[in-house]
Amino acid sequence: MSFTVAIDGPAAAGKGTISRAVAAHFGFAHLDTGLLYRAVGAKALEGIEPIAAAEALRAEDLAAQNLRGAEVAQEASKVATIPEVRAALVDFQRAFARRNGGAVLDGRDIGTVICPEAEAKIFVTASAEVRAKRRFLEQRAAGSAMSLEAVWAEVIARDERDQSRAAAPMKPAEGALIFDTSEMTIDEAVAVAIKAIQARR
Ligand code: CDP
Repeated sequence: MSFTVAIDGPAAAGKGTISRAVAAHFGFAHLDTGLLYRAVGAKALEGIEPIAAAEALRAEDLAAQNLRGAEVAQEASKVATIPEVRAALVDFQRAFARRNGGAVLDGRDIGTVICPEAEAKIFVTASAEVRAKRRFLEQRAAGSAMSLEAVWAEVIARDERDQSRAAAPMKPAEGALIFDTSEMTIDEAVAVAIKAIQARR
């Protein structure tokens, strides 16, 4: 039996944390689809043509060390505007979504393009200030020396690119539960998501 949970939203809204917790709660597999675009972005930074990089992407590319940084994130959002890059990544994501035992996918276009038929769709947001602060703390803990202002600008630039692109722009899917985590703890946000998914089972 398959059961797909689509979790979309802007940068650092809490999608990853919520998705991992929800997957653990229901015993579902989890795919962070941002990693696919980050892996293609990292290859583009190495000088590989992005469409060719997306077409040749392998599972081990997702385990590369440098994918979480801000430079790769920016490049990811640039390659993510290329329709052929997105097209090359569709089949893998759809197969993952329909695997037996249930799947949670988080990204920008899961509920709108990859899995419009997902049983549960959630769009997680938070204010730009809260998201920038969360990402700043995460990156500092990972050893980055970027200032809060620089992280903030990075997040805003990516949101704008992700929202305004013609191919699969970031937006809430029809029928998605939209919730703002600005004033919530992680546990509260996870509880909201679990309740919404439970209601669909
Ligand atoms: O972790 P964060 O929310 O900052 O970013 P991410 O989910 O790792 O995604 C990195 C970039 O990949 C995004 O800014 C998007 O441009 C792109 N992306 C996308 O276009 N579609 C997806 N399903 C997932 C990510």
